[in-house]
This record gives sequence, C-alpha cells and structure tokens, in this order.
Amino acid sequence: MSNKIQTLSGYIYEYQRSVQDPEHFWSRVADSFFWHKRWDKVVEWNFEEPRVEWFKNAKFNITENILERHLFIMGDKPAIIWEPNDPDEPHVTLTYQQLHDEVCRFANAMKAQGIQKGDRVIIYIPMVPEAAIAMLACARIGAVHSVVFAGFSANSLSDRINDCQAKMVITSDGNFRGSKKIDVKSVVDEALETTSSIEKVIVLKRTGQEIDMKDGRDIWWHDVIEGMSKVNKAELMDAEDMLFILYTSGSTGKPKGVVHTCGGYMVYTAYSFQNVFQYNHGDVYWCTADVGWITGHSYIVYGPLLCGATTLMFEGVPTFPDPGRFWAICDKHQVNQFYTAPTAIRALQAYGTGPLEPYKLNSLRVIGSVGEPINEEAWHWYHDHVGKGRCPIVDTWWQTETGGILISPIAGVTPTKPSYATLPMPGIQPVILDNDGKELTGNSVEGNLCIKYPWPSMLRTTYGDHERCRQTYFSSFKGYYFTGDGVKRDEDGYYRILGRVDDVINVSGHRMGTAEVENAINEHPKVIESAVVGYPHDIKGQGIYAYVICDMEGRTEENLKAEIRETVNKIIGPIAKPDKIQIVPGLPKTRSGKIMRRILRKIATGETSSLGDTSTLLNPEVVEAIIEGAF
Ligand code: WT7
Repeated sequence: MSNKIQTLSGYIYEYQRSVQDPEHFWSRVADSFFWHKRWDKVVEWNFEEPRVEWFKNAKFNITENILERHLFIMGDKPAIIWEPNDPDEPHVTLTYQQLHDEVCRFANAMKAQGIQKGDRVIIYIPMVPEAAIAMLACARIGAVHSVVFAGFSANSLSDRINDCQAKMVITSDGNFRGSKKIDVKSVVDEALETTSSIEKVIVLKRTGQEIDMKDGRDIWWHDVIEGMSKVNKAELMDAEDMLFILYTSGSTGKPKGVVHTCGGYMVYTAYSFQNVFQYNHGDVYWCTADVGWITGHSYIVYGPLLCGATTLMFEGVPTFPDPGRFWAICDKHQVNQFYTAPTAIRALQAYGTGPLEPYKLNSLRVIGSVGEPINEEAWHWYHDHVGKGRCPIVDTWWQTETGGILISPIAGVTPTKPSYATLPMPGIQPVILDNDGKELTGNSVEGNLCIKYPWPSMLRTTYGDHERCRQTYFSSFKGYYFTGDGVKRDEDGYYRILGRVDDVINVSGHRMGTAEVENAINEHPKVIESAVVGYPHDIKGQGIYAYVICDMEGRTEENLKAEIRETVNKIIGPIAKPDKIQIVPGLPKTRSGKIMRRILRKIATGETSSLGDTSTLLNPEVVEAIIEGAF
C-alpha cells in the first residue's frame, strides 16, 4: 500500500485533506485494493436513521485482497506464525500460498455442508490458525461469521446463536491454556440444547480429549476437508454486504450484535494497521488479543493480512510456563511490532523486571496498547523495560463499533505523552460535547466523546434490531455517533480517554454491562435485588463490585457469595465473576425507584466522604448501613 504516513507534517497534511474532501481521500486509499467493480459513490450517510454506506455498489471479495492480491509476489512469505501454548511444541508457519489453499479447502467444505452466502456461522474456537482460516473461509463464500470468545459460557453462546439464527458452529474438542486443558466441545453441546437453528458442528481436534460426537450433526474438521479442492472461486460481494457480527455488551439488556460490512471495514483496517504500526514488508507483527474480540478481528486477522503482513497468533497465556513467555516469543520470532493490553502489562509488571532479563527484545520497534486507559505507571514500565526507551508506544483508542483504531499516535511520527491516545487518524472527526449536546471547541476541554462524520469501518446496525443501534449510539446527541466515553482535549489538542460515562465497566480490557451482570446475579434463587458498579482494580483496571440483597435463610454469607459467583460464571462466563460481593440490607434509590449508582460507585471506591447530595433518596438510612459493611 502506498498510503503510508512518514512524517508529522505528512500526517497533518493527510489529516487536513481527509477532512476537507473525505470522498477524495478515501477513494484514493481504496484504490490500492482489488475490486471487480468500482463504487458509484464513496459515501452516503445520515446519522438520524442512521444509514451509512461506503463504496456503494462496489463488487469484490475481501479474501481476494488478502490471498490472491499477495500470491503473485509473496506467496512464499509467512502470513501466520502460530505459537502454541506449550513452548516445547513446534510452532507452525503458514505462507500466503498455504493460507490460500487452506481457506479455499475449508470454504469448499463449508459449502459442501450446506452453507451459503448470507448464512450465519458461529466460530467458538481457541487461538489456533484454524480460527483465522474459518473466518476467512466464511468471508470467501459470503457467510457471515460471528466469533464467540471461547471463554464464554454455554448460556452466552446459546444466546448469540439464537440471536443471529446461525446454521453452523465451528469449534474444537478442547483448548490448552497455561497448565490447564479446557473443555470446548462440551460447552457447545450444552449450548445447543437451547437452540434450534444449528444444522452442523465442525470440530477441530486440538487436545485429543474424549468428546461426544452427535451423529448427523457433528463432523471432524479433518474429515470435512478430506478431498476438498484448493481451488475456490470467491463469492462476489457488495461493499455493503455483511462481513461479520460481533456481540458486545452495552449498558442495557443482552449483548448486541454489532454488524460490520465488507468494503469499508477492509479499507479502514488495512489503512489504520499500516499507519499506526508503521508495518514494513518482512516485519513480524504480534497482537496478543484473542480472535474472539474486535482487536483479534481487525488487528490479528484482517488488517495485517490485508497488508501482506506476517501476523503472529499465540495460543497461551502471558505467565505460562513463566512470566517471561511474551518476551521469549518476541525474541524467538524476532517480533517488530508488539500490541497488548494494559491489564497484561500491569500483571507482568507485578513480577518485576527479572522475567525480562534473559531476553534482548532488540527486534521490537513499536509497542502498542489497547482496551482501556493505560495508567502512567504502566506506560512508563512498558516504555522503559519492554521498549527499552527506544520504541514509541501507540496507545490506540477504539471500540467494537468503530471497527478500527480511531485515535492513536502514528508510531514514530506523532510525539507521545503517557496515557494519551494523542490525535485522530486521518478521516476521523472527533468532537467533545457537553451534557447539553453543545460542541466544546478549542483546547483544554472535557466532555462526551462523539464523532461527527462517518468513517469506513463504523458499525452499520445491531443485528436484527436497527432501532437499538439508533437508540444506543445516535440518539444521545442528535447528528453524532456517541462513543460512551468521556474524554479530555488538553492544551496541545491531545486526546486523553477518561473511561466510560455510561453503565459499562471495563474489566481487563473487556467490556461488561452492569445490567447484564446484575441479571445474571438475580438468577440466583436467594437473590432479591442487586446493583453492580466498577471500582479501580490494580491489575484489571476495573473490578466488578456487586451489592446484593439476599434472603439469607439456610446459607452462610460465604456460601452465598460463592454460589452467586458460580451463577454468574455459568450464565456469562468467568470474566464476569464479581471481584467483590457485599450483602446489603437495601439499595439507595431515588423516589422514582432508580438505583443511585453514583453513590454505590463512591462507596466501592472508598470515597465515602464525598457522597454528594443524598437528600433526594427514598431511603437515605441504607447508605450508612452499606458504608459500615463495605470492604
Ligand atoms: C471501550 C471499547 C477496541 C478494542 C478493545 C476494546 C475502552 C479501548 C482504549 C484506550 C482508553 C480505551 C473505551 C472504549 N478503550 N481502547 N486506548 N484508552 N480506553 O473494545 O470491548 O469494544 O471496548 O474500551 O472505554 O469505549 P471494546
């Protein structure tokens, strides 16, 4: 790609052009891809409905831009390097040619199993190359993938299958994670007891553990690809055809299926990948995320592969077999760009610099951060000990809904500042609004982060419920996309993300809706009512604090708390288990019956001396009781 920014003045120039004439800017970027038919119009939009269309009527297939576009000159270059959980197991390298062949074989296999363009396919699989192969095979035949993080419970999986009425699940027998072997297929079996749309389950053999295979429904991956051709004609897709659905939590109700479409997502993930990370041909790039999250979609699979990059996939965890594993992998594969989450940095920081000592880390050029605000201490540790003071940190702000990185330094180009995501990418027009919806112009302002012009990889809808999309993102501030984040623009015009302003908490870079956790807690038969808030947590960024009113009869407090945790584990998954549970006699409520979370947040944070006005409460006496019982 020839759209690479190399200097600060180059960035400023690009940015200005992108705002003055977005259509010209994006058509120039899109021109470096392979389209069967070019677009009639670059963008059409209004944020009222909302309706957003990019590269209207263009025809193409995203996998041709990943595979065929790169085969000619770099078919033998590594596309994916896979590092297994166990360092003694050999790693696997797939060249672009091999990736092409595997994607085509699996695409043919899926078709042979009855999957057609537009069908939804659930991918519930750990971090193995087949995860990427399955995603690309879906994209190849026009099926819509929905990857579900393999740590989610059977209940969460079943909800997602039912919401999108998927026809197929692609999974594995089990999963190696650190010293543990985790069941995967049995979770699928349980989930499918409460769904009716699934016709086939394809099972990859990974751990070799005993599993049940249901006749007529379940088939092994190695059996379905048996005899399949490596030739597959890519389905011709419209730029606005759906590419994937990814479920994410919000402040209300069940997770919603964020919909991304083919054309804009392709253009933006590739453009942002190349520029933010300053990827050069031959570099080895590693993002430690899981493909079950948007980071894995955009910056393990699509963005890097669209740029012909070598992308490393890691199956394991940062602390197995020891807390030097990340650094061992960086040295082993000579990683040039390393992209991880603040929670991982803080967790490793807790082990001191000892685990880093055996490693050189001299191949690293760029180090990145994503998922939550990075605190200054972690930023400095990352900069000094991992980047050895010579690698720029790219603190990348974005969301599942944005599809790609929107605010971030361009590595080595944008001067950085600890804990600042710095400046918007070209094409991105962030604005700060006060609570009345007034745009705060100029510098040194703080408020709600909104975006006022569409960008190619933004969400188009929430699956099956467009009104919910409008309500959630386009109704708080008329005419703007509202991110749900608070932000400050400092005296230099730099952006610092302050965290969510809605009822969403960010646990280890994973988004949790407080209502979702409350609903899960309330499933416990002894629970009468609950309220969940976030509180500062040393490693996770935010922890989950649950205030619960219970019927205590026949239970000790400890038993009950353990059971509540287990209920949440079962309904959502281990990531949603509350860190702290406080049994309370009541919850502070307004006269209209709304829980006053502001007060509960303060108590959880230990800021009990600044509770603010509690006189409007229906039951002010309950606040005292909660403070007394607090941790
Ligand atoms: C929320 C989105 C985007 C990939 C991972 C999370 C927070 C994300 C940053 C950052 C401060 C950040 C925001 C955002 N967030 N990156 N660099 N600095 N906060 O995706 O699950 O959709 O969550 O994560 O609060 O709204 P997600």
